[in-house]
Amino acid sequence: MKTIYFTDSEADLEKAAELIKKGKLVAFPTETVYGLGADALNEAAVKNVYKAKGRPCDNPMIVHISHFDDLKLLAEEIPEDASVLADRFWPGPLTMIMNKKPAVPKVTTGGLDTVAVRMPSDKVALKLIEKSGCAIAAPSANLSGKPSPTKWEHASKDLDGRIEGIIRGGDCQVGIESTVLDLTGEIPTILRPGIVTASELSEVLGKPVEMDRSLFAKIELKEPGYGEGSEAEDEDRDGGETEKASGRGPKSPGMKYKHYAPKGQMVIFQGDRAKVDLAVKERRQKAEAEGLRVKVISFDDSREAARDFFKQLRDADDEGAELILAYALEENEVGFSVMNRMLKSAGYNVVQL
Ligand code: TXA
Ligand code: MG
Repeated sequence: MKTIYFTDSEADLEKAAELIKKGKLVAFPTETVYGLGADALNEAAVKNVYKAKGRPCDNPMIVHISHFDDLKLLAEEIPEDASVLADRFWPGPLTMIMNKKPAVPKVTTGGLDTVAVRMPSDKVALKLIEKSGCAIAAPSANLSGKPSPTKWEHASKDLDGRIEGIIRGGDCQVGIESTVLDLTGEIPTILRPGIVTASELSEVLGKPVEMDRSLFAKIELKEPGYGEGSEAEDEDRDGGETEKASGRGPKSPGMKYKHYAPKGQMVIFQGDRAKVDLAVKERRQKAEAEGLRVKVISFDDSREAARDFFKQLRDADDEGAELILAYALEENEVGFSVMNRMLKSAGYNVVQL
């Protein structure tokens, strides 16, 4: 299929919205990462998102809205906490999970009775949602397993020829995906950390917010399955019911798959800065002496790390890096969220110093 490229002009966004209305797929910018959008209530369209991404069909999607009232069409009941948090963090990089209305198809929620909803702050995203007149289901606009796209060029590289449209918007300023907060249990629980942190959420709610236990465990990651029909196989490889029943599996299905993997081998160095400097230098020299192409990734602060980490991974692939040596971030607040992605990219390959 020929992918149409749009600018972010009003006229082009109208055209892109027309595609969404017709059940087609359009990649669009958000402040976090580019999303691959489809009408969230159109089963056939959502199925095509899984196909285009090569995404396992038990991995639910985030539904994007442009007005708080649209939440009423998706959530069975709007918890008080959701209203309070939306007031403070929407539009913005916070996704909230609530019990779903029957109108939301199970393909959109990966078979779950809950739905994840977010109102992005990116102006182009908001306009696209508004003009299309639908809630837009959108996972990150990358092939399953690849780093999330923070530039339209990344989405184009992965999805050109596989989807109907791509909006050429600006670069994503947050750079890591939204914080996913589960509001269906007794205590609000973060399933995926992001730039909106537990302490900020807790402060606004005036009560504790927990981190899902799986965020601290080294999970056996598996290669993503491919599209429809892989469900049975996934259950198999997963240990199926046993894992779920024992509560060991992550609550957010997306967290169990192998993610963000660059082509080269990646190693994270953690600990005393001087020791890390030395170890990285030695490892680099050794690898280069063996003829390997090496890339070093390090950041000055955690916000910069969030914004640039996925881009660095993609650059590493483009440069043909065979070995990637990354400096660990301090695991507090946003640093913890970036480390969550970094550890997965490296397959938990960490040198402690
Ligand atoms: O910033 C973002 O959230 C981006 C932009 C495009 O909005 N979207 C994004 O979507 O990262 P995706 O599909 O790549 O990640 C969605 C995550 C997955 O880990 C998925 O398992 C989880 O949210 N999720 C979605 N619905 C859920 C639900 N009902 N229960 C638990 N986890 C859910
Ligand atoms: Mg993703």
